Amino acid sequence: MTLRLVELDSENLPAVVRIPPAVGEKAYVAPVVFSIAEAYVTPTAWPRAIVDDDEVVGFVMANWDPDNEIEAFRGGIWRLNVAEAAKGRGIGRFAVEQVADEARRRGYERITVLWDPAPDGPEQFYLRVGFRPGGELFGETVGVLAL
Ligand SMILES: CC(C)(COP(=O)(O)OP(=O)(O)OC[C@H]1O[C@@H](n2cnc3c(N)ncnc32)[C@H](O)[C@@H]1OP(=O)(O)O)[C@@H](O)C(=O)NCCC(=O)NCCS
Repeated sequence: MTLRLVELDSENLPAVVRIPPAVGEKAYVAPVVFSIAEAYVTPTAWPRAIVDDDEVVGFVMANWDPDNEIEAFRGGIWRLNVAEAAKGRGIGRFAVEQVADEARRRGYERITVLWDPAPDGPEQFYLRVGFRPGGELFGETVGVLAL
């Protein structure tokens, strides 16, 4: 596997928007097409395709907004979607590490993520890759990863 994060472009966009969930599907993360729309109107958003060689295997969106009045929104993972066939191969972990590296380059000492605490949600993944529960916001758990 040769994993990389790359900026979205007209070539990878069709594969990126096909990553689950589909619009209308019940899930713990928004459809990628919604995230890209949010990125379009959010200058601090940092959307990236996760590619293995040239194949799109996921999507991650960070947000870098150090002056946000809500601490949990100052910097970290906003969205993370791994393609169904690519799950369980370390791609989610890779994306978290890449966002953490980018945060270090920007001078952050911690990143955050919000997750739904439901038993079949992504909590175990985030705990496994090093996040620790650090509060609650809008009914979700605020996860904190010290860098
Ligand atoms: C959650 C998600 C991002 C994980 O991605 P992934 O590429 O399958 O995860 P990885 O293979 O990198 O797993 C990293 C570690 O977490 C563990 N893990 C991953 N999903 C897990 C789960 N559901 N329960 C328990 N452990 C889990 C893996 O076993 C692995 O542990 P290891 O390093 O000890 O082997 C992916 O399943 C996904 O896209 N889910 C749907 C969308 C979602 O919930 N996104 C997050 C909300 S923002």
